[in-house]
Amino acid sequence: MFNNVKVSDKVYWLGVNDRSKQLFENMWPLPGGVSYNCYLIVDDKTALLDTVEMGSDLDFVGRVESILGGRELDYLIINHMEPDHSGEIKDILRRYPDVKIIGNNKTYKILEGYYGITENLQEVKDGDTLSLGHHDLRFVFTPWVHWPETMMTYDITEHILFSADAFGSFGTLDGGIFDDEVELKYYEDEMRRYYSNIVGKYSNMVQKAFAKLGSLKIDIICPLHGLVWRSNPGKAIEMYQKWSTCQGENAVVIIYASMYGNTQRVADYIARALAEQGVKDIRVYDVSKTHVSYLISEVWRCKGVILGSCAYNTQMHPNMEHLTTELEHYGVKNKFLGIFGSHSWNGGGVRNLMAFAETMGFEPVAAPVDLFGKPTLEKLKACDEIAVQMAACLKGDNN
Ligand code: FEO
Repeated sequence: MFNNVKVSDKVYWLGVNDRSKQLFENMWPLPGGVSYNCYLIVDDKTALLDTVEMGSDLDFVGRVESILGGRELDYLIINHMEPDHSGEIKDILRRYPDVKIIGNNKTYKILEGYYGITENLQEVKDGDTLSLGHHDLRFVFTPWVHWPETMMTYDITEHILFSADAFGSFGTLDGGIFDDEVELKYYEDEMRRYYSNIVGKYSNMVQKAFAKLGSLKIDIICPLHGLVWRSNPGKAIEMYQKWSTCQGENAVVIIYASMYGNTQRVADYIARALAEQGVKDIRVYDVSKTHVSYLISEVWRCKGVILGSCAYNTQMHPNMEHLTTELEHYGVKNKFLGIFGSHSWNGGGVRNLMAFAETMGFEPVAAPVDLFGKPTLEKLKACDEIAVQMAACLKGDNN
């Protein structure tokens, strides 16, 4: 429980930490929990921007009441309908039955579908404005960042962007709520994981949203998860620009599937060969041990991606298949790709990784290597070219 937290004189942060949920969307691990943020503007008119997940706050309505101090709630602005943000809408309506619900036509379809709510709707169009008194708000439609109805609310008066899921992060807010109150590294990593897992599939729509928001002065970013960016919103925007255009860092991630250690040996050999080529940022993961959520995030981070799989029933290993299916689903772009594997009879791992590369439109940096049996040093030398060419690509020699 926090004291009331002000974003500015009349704008309150009204978030809550969820440390109970194990998996976000019943899929993505939450070892550090997640926060659901929403915001309350107390002006001549009062407006609540989104709510929180149902049951995540023991007394959400009570907190709204305590800030309003007996005043009515005039508007409920719905920027995003996913239940982690709309879950307390019915409770708000029970307490404030006359509140006007601001949304767009796509919002209302989902609002009715989830909660049966069809009354007191005040539909807005893209670019419409609403004056609360001191604060003038503009509604900017940003479909598919992350759902079709998603919009952002821009406070023209104080240049605050209420950005819905954009700029959100996994990880609870452990005391620090603003970007200048925390060590950023943890949140940058969890922001990238959130971006790549949740929003990354819609990167082209993030770019479209940026094109619409580009001319706006943004002093504070208020997302629905994670930090409020009041000191350096430009940093958050810069990260999103980079991620939504799939610009990786000069780093290589090697991800392998291995049953009896042979393919793992190849992975370690290539990692060492990369280091000898001068690549410093190398991470190696066992696809069967590290959750795909983190692997997707690492693929997003790195310019170089090297995938290796043993053969498994003439296919690639099922856990590698899961990863590659996800990467295909997300439409990952702009990667230098290397492929390796091992087999004991008629193969399948490398063959299917090559099919994946073709589907994705990636030309491997060097000929894929599929080793037979135990990877002796003599056989492993066939992988040298993958490391040499990958390092050259990172240096720009092969661009
Ligand atoms: Fe945080 Fe798309 O919901």
